[in-house]
Amino acid sequence: MRYGSGSLSTGVLEAMDFTAEAGEFVVVLGRSGSGKSTLLNLLGGMDQPLAGTIRIGDDELTAMDEEARARFRRRAIGFVFQAFNLLPTLTVAENLALPLALNQRRERDLVPAMLERLGLQDRATRYPDQLSGGEQQRVAIGRALIHSPPLVLADEPTGNLDADTSQQVLRLFSELVRERGITLVMATHSSEPQALADRVLRLDHGRLVDCG
Ligand SMILES: Nc1ncnc2c1ncn2[C@@H]1O[C@H](COP(=O)(O)OP(=O)(O)OP(=O)(O)O)[C@@H](O)[C@H]1O
Ligand SMILES: [Mg+2]
Repeated sequence: MRYGSGSLSTGVLEAMDFTAEAGEFVVVLGRSGSGKSTLLNLLGGMDQPLAGTIRIGDDELTAMDEEARARFRRRAIGFVFQAFNLLPTLTVAENLALPLALNQRRERDLVPAMLERLGLQDRATRYPDQLSGGEQQRVAIGRALIHSPPLVLADEPTGNLDADTSQQVLRLFSELVRERGITLVMATHSSEPQALADRVLRLDHGRLVDCG
């Protein structure tokens, strides 16, 4: 992966061969600027690589045009970000329902079930700015998972949370993906998620190194 063109271009990721198994939880470590977000953006179809192919299940992201990628993303990929990125004008329940609406799915009972699973039943009608950071991130995780996409990408999901809250949120996150057999690729600086993950990789000078 390179940014820019000609003499101003910067190579970020070198040739790499990355595969995650269905249902696997993979943590990607690496110092700031090592390319973690770039890797997630490629996996999520927000960026296109200069060369190579990206396949998710039977679908080849790199063969799709932008519109097809956007459609695929909506259906098949959940995202969790450091800054939570909830929609401020929607309530907790409405934020959770969004992926269902966008995918024309009518299973309304999934929202109360997810609220309960997140321990947020009594927060359903609140707005994001009336929640703590940990609560906001639980909603964001619920929103990423509610339509059970095969792949969830998380970029520094605990970067804005204190240590105790991080632990709670990570444990819940890992339980939920395992219950549903969802593949989770999580970029982080912190060593906390490592104990919960199936595999830990480190990005170093554009290459992925297996840390076990
Ligand atoms: N749009 C862009 N144009 C040019 N260079 C970029 C762009 N986005 C990122 N980069 C560069 O690519 C490299 C990798 O950035 P990336 O955001 O993937 O790192 P990161 O590992 O996620 O870092 P952090 O831990 O700080 O989030 C950095 O050197 C960054 O400056
Ligand atoms: Mg980043």
